[in-house]
Amino acid sequence: MALPAYRQGKPAAPSAFKLSSNENPFAPLPAVLEALGAERDINRYPDATAAALREKLGEKYGVSADEVHIGAGSVALLAQLLLAAAGPGDEVVYSWRSFEAYPSLVTVTGATSVQVPNRADGGHDLAAIAASITPRTRAVIVCTPNNPTGSIVTDDEFAEFMASVPADLLVILDEAYTEFVTDDAAVDGVPLLGRYPNLVVLRTFSKAYGLAGLRVGYALGPLAILDAARSTAIPLSVTGPGATAAIASLEHEAELLDRVRQIAERRGRLWTSLVDQGWQIPRPQGNFIWLPTGQQTTDVAARLAEAGLVVRPFQPDGIRLSIGEEEAVQKLLQISEEIVGSLPEGNPARRLG
Ligand SMILES: Cc1ncc(COP(=O)(O)O)c(C=O)c1O
Repeated sequence: MALPAYRQGKPAAPSAFKLSSNENPFAPLPAVLEALGAERDINRYPDATAAALREKLGEKYGVSADEVHIGAGSVALLAQLLLAAAGPGDEVVYSWRSFEAYPSLVTVTGATSVQVPNRADGGHDLAAIAASITPRTRAVIVCTPNNPTGSIVTDDEFAEFMASVPADLLVILDEAYTEFVTDDAAVDGVPLLGRYPNLVVLRTFSKAYGLAGLRVGYALGPLAILDAARSTAIPLSVTGPGATAAIASLEHEAELLDRVRQIAERRGRLWTSLVDQGWQIPRPQGNFIWLPTGQQTTDVAARLAEAGLVVRPFQPDGIRLSIGEEEAVQKLLQISEEIVGSLPEGNPARRLG
């Protein structure tokens, strides 16, 4: 009863653009489809630990295969880590607004969410997060770039934060969108792995690698913490085709990262144009932008839907809009100037003056 039923990003009509789930707009790579087509043994269970994929990721990141744990999407890994760490009477701290799955995943463990408001610029207030930690806190989730605001945590901010929290408190660094980051100041969890015994980094093949439909994510971190996550996992939920497609994607990474660069370039162009039109929006670093439309959120989302742009409204905070096809960017820019002009003065998405 404490949980709202999960509602997926709205399906788009055939003529509309689906910009509601931060998916990758590019079609799968032919080489990935070929690898999937060659999958024959689907009458057999998959390798329970996706060892070949763990080996490959271990090589990529310079860690052992046991310091890699694969899940059916990084959301499954979040669930496992939280179930392992927290229960009734415990607390899990995270910034809010952030990834909409966090509250429900915490509730399922029996623990209580402690939500620390985002800074006015959409970023994490890490000092306030650290100040919210009590003896009951079992885990902190840090999301960078933050879904839905697109703001990053910097390397310096993160180092200061880690120095201020207990070394035995689990810190989950959710880097689902890390490949889209172009700001050099942003934290990168991988080089920090050896430094902190309490840090786990989450990444996914759903966004930059375009495999959202196959459900593959991974955790990097200390063996003992990953073993705890393994113990709460639903066995055999990572499929053989999912692991195969992830390996094929790593083998064709350069092509995929070229697409990531195109999406980041599209994002930068869109942001600059919107700011020029009078929008006030945080600097985006994921594959999405955040329009803090406040009370006008539902109305603006309806106007975008009429124009064939299906977005994710979070009334009364704002709208998250994925960077999709180039045509969708052009379509948005045709109507966004009129929309920002019609927002009442004082709306947080409208620049003053
Ligand atoms: C911040 C964040 N973390 C994790 C996920 C989960 O992604 P997946 O389970 O597809 O790996 C998402 C998906 O939207 C996300 O936005």
